[in-house]
Amino acid sequence: MQIKDQPGATLGVTVEDFDHTTASEADVQALKEAVYTKKIAVLKGQDLTPRQFLALGRRLGRPETYYEPMYRHPDVPEIFVSSNVPENGRQIGVPKTGKFWHADYQFMPDPFGITLIHPQVVPARNRGTYFIDMGRAYERLPEALVKEITGTRCRHSVRKYFKIRPHDVYRPISEILDEVETKTPPVVQPTTFTHPMTGETVLYLSEGFTVGIEDADGNPLDEDLLKRLFEATGQLDETFAHEGIHLQSFEKGDLLVWDNRSLVHRARHTTTPEPTVSHRVTVHDERRLHDGMPAA
Ligand SMILES: [Fe+2]
Repeated sequence: MQIKDQPGATLGVTVEDFDHTTASEADVQALKEAVYTKKIAVLKGQDLTPRQFLALGRRLGRPETYYEPMYRHPDVPEIFVSSNVPENGRQIGVPKTGKFWHADYQFMPDPFGITLIHPQVVPARNRGTYFIDMGRAYERLPEALVKEITGTRCRHSVRKYFKIRPHDVYRPISEILDEVETKTPPVVQPTTFTHPMTGETVLYLSEGFTVGIEDADGNPLDEDLLKRLFEATGQLDETFAHEGIHLQSFEKGDLLVWDNRSLVHRARHTTTPEPTVSHRVTVHDERRLHDGMPAA
């Protein structure tokens, strides 16, 4: 296994010759270390079946199966499928997922530390995923803004981006919204936390899932504060030219592994309806999202 910095980018490494069936425990630890410190690892030359992909994921941690069944792979439920390509006339997984800034499972009480994506059908033109390193973004925040968020907490919810399921057709929208609030009530996290694997401070919020900010006593703060945080970190830049935004490209055979604690990401906006399919596995590592969380 060889780990090399990605040329011309501040984030990311490429990893050659990683074979999950023969990798030593030391190799796996080195790979995870690269994911935590360099944020994205692109494993080259992987061409894995769903079962093999899951087996690779298990080398890194404990898989989390997505809570909504319509996203699950029909044979391997731990795999989340994003696809706009029907198989034998049947929709597998869900099309157009994640086209908004978010961290995976940010709206859940116990988000996992690592996300793995194995692209299956790679679009010819608008390829890649956007990332923002929210550890770096925190370092670059103006001092006044850092002061303003000290001791605050953020509220995260899936409500803005919950996807209507086939069986929701003909249901009143209010009933669906009530179900979302009951099944996935908003979760409160500190606005910043210490990354348990690196010690860096992470600004934990996203335009897609963060729906409120409050002071230490739970009193809601002006929404404008959240807006200024999204603005400062690049999450409102629709041109994606902000210095904090990294476009991670990939090709067939790649497998992306990233740090879901400190990165927010967003699927690339496509102007043309190109076929695209990707498989995702998400895993919990040895630690919770941050050490301030109550034990499971
Ligand atoms: Fe995602």
